[in-house]
Amino acid sequence: MDSQAPRIRVWDAAVRCLHWLLVASVAAAWLTTLGWLHWHEAAGYAAAAVVALRLAWGFAGSRYARFAQFLRGPTATASYAARVLERREPRYIGHNPLGAWMVLALLACVAALGLTGWLYTRFDMFWGEAWLDQLHAFLGWLLLALIGLHLAGVAFTSGRHDENLVRAMVDGDKPAPRPGDLS
Ligand code: HEM
Ligand code: HEM
Repeated sequence: MDSQAPRIRVWDAAVRCLHWLLVASVAAAWLTTLGWLHWHEAAGYAAAAVVALRLAWGFAGSRYARFAQFLRGPTATASYAARVLERREPRYIGHNPLGAWMVLALLACVAALGLTGWLYTRFDMFWGEAWLDQLHAFLGWLLLALIGLHLAGVAFTSGRHDENLVRAMVDGDKPAPRPGDLS
């Protein structure tokens, strides 16, 4: 149904640009730990800057970019998760409640990596502190695990509702709402 159905604009240009810039900068931050640590700091700061812009856009952006539009409380999120297990979950036009918490977890993890990297490299009192180094490394692996879950969630949800969510993050458009869909 994805290819023929009428489509509506969901992700504005800023959401899409920031998403792919985050992917590029996080990939660069990870790859540069393999031996180009000088560039690692630049890539890590770039990722942190993207997160800062995305946080601001979460208050100022278009409808589906706003945190207030897609973040739901624990009860609504748990009930959505239960419906996923029963295979009866509704389709959401924006982020679904579980995806929304994953968005926040990914942004928070990158922000924490930026903060721990900055503290470690910029302040004498933290320089060489093993716990901070270990925390930074732990967050790096945690981020990788979250990215794995994020990609699994995108593939799963695309399959469940017969739509191509990756295409929507590229061109911004999703199949128009059908009866029973939620925004
Ligand atoms: C470094 C790796 C990645 C990170 C840190 C990341 C992070 C994020 C974030 C923060 C969002 C929320 C978008 C927003 O509202 O601004 C998001 C959404 C999304 N990402 Fe990623 N992403 C990563 C990799 C990918 C890749 C490789 C793909 C595609 C193959 C992808 C596909 C998507 C899609 C389709 C959505 C929208 C999900 C939905 O419809 O609710 N992501 N991602
Ligand atoms: C998305 C952002 C980032 C990611 C994914 C990331 C990830 C990592 C990983 C996986 C390591 C290897 C840890 C180890 O095995 O010891 C590392 C090391 C390091 N990172 Fe980051 N990092 C990020 C941002 C930053 C930033 C912003 C800075 C500094 C401004 C920074 C400074 C460092 C330093 C100095 C090391 C080497 C620590 C040591 O001496 O063992 N990182 N990072």
